[in-house]
Amino acid sequence: MSSAIRVAVLGGGQNCEHDVSLASATSVAAALDPTRYDVVRLTIDPDGGWRDGRGDLLGIAGAVHLLTTCDVVLPVLHGPKAEDGTLAGLLDLAGVPYVGSGVRAGALAMDKWATKLVAEAVGVATAPGVMLTAATARSYRWTHPVVVKPIAAGSSHGVALVTEPDRLEAALRAALALDERVLVEDLVVGREIDLAVLGRSDGTRIVAPALEIVTDGLFDFATKYDGSAVFQVPAALDEADLKALEHAALAVYDALGCAGVARVDFFLTSNGPVLNEVNTFPGFTEQSQVPKMFAAGGTSYGDLLDLLVQDVLEG
Ligand SMILES: Nc1ncnc2c1ncn2[C@@H]1O[C@H](COP(=O)(O)OP(=O)(O)O)[C@@H](O)[C@H]1O
Ligand SMILES: [Mg+2]
Repeated sequence: MSSAIRVAVLGGGQNCEHDVSLASATSVAAALDPTRYDVVRLTIDPDGGWRDGRGDLLGIAGAVHLLTTCDVVLPVLHGPKAEDGTLAGLLDLAGVPYVGSGVRAGALAMDKWATKLVAEAVGVATAPGVMLTAATARSYRWTHPVVVKPIAAGSSHGVALVTEPDRLEAALRAALALDERVLVEDLVVGREIDLAVLGRSDGTRIVAPALEIVTDGLFDFATKYDGSAVFQVPAALDEADLKALEHAALAVYDALGCAGVARVDFFLTSNGPVLNEVNTFPGFTEQSQVPKMFAAGGTSYGDLLDLLVQDVLEG
């Protein structure tokens, strides 16, 4: 089938989101229409080794060579050394078109501190917070409930709520074990609402119906991944809140310079939207937030993947 589009689907990666990425990559590869796409699977091991679809090690040079035989790459990867612009850089240098954000947006969005600065600069609120390192952490004085998190990690690794001062040290130590820089943010009280923004090759942007992560009301990071959190999509929002969220999501997407689809996560507080973070390659199983949001807007999982791939080929 010589006319089939050769798509490389990348999964895995050298970070704590390796397994999350593999689940998404497997799901994406299975959803690409085999009559139109010739799928080439590539996996990055936790130790950085690249493997082909048969599981054979390729080496970085072999992997780049294989990628250059493809029409387009779907880098279904999260976290550092992947979604943070490093992979985009490799693909840019190799001259292989790919779905999603480039180096700059990937790097900025992976850095929760940089994201905060950019969002605030375009008028989008974020939680007040300070950036600490191992050297400065000792002088931090706890006065009120905060959330401690590594500036670049993902999937809630190293994120801790600190409501008592004697818990601070352990939280900082855990976060500093994952990143040299740590964010200590005020605890935001609000509903968690995610928006998906898709930038099309013609310059237009589509915002999918908003999704709410409904938990049992307890502040518990684990519920997001243990299946007890429920996604409600479309989220029940009044017109003004929805408009404010959409406006903020687009402003942040554009300010970071995102491409393809990005998930922009907010807290909706009594004072309006507060940005939490931006994921430039969000979870992408059919049951993940972004595919569910587009499905609610009438774009099926397969159609969403088609849009992403076709936009790259046409752009
Ligand atoms: N400042 C905050 N106030 C309240 N909850 C927070 C705050 N920061 C993070 N959280 C909670 O922790 C979760 C994980 O934090 P997040 O920054 O999204 O990290 P990750 O990149 O691991 O997803 C969020 O989905 C939210 O439930
Ligand atoms: Mg998050």
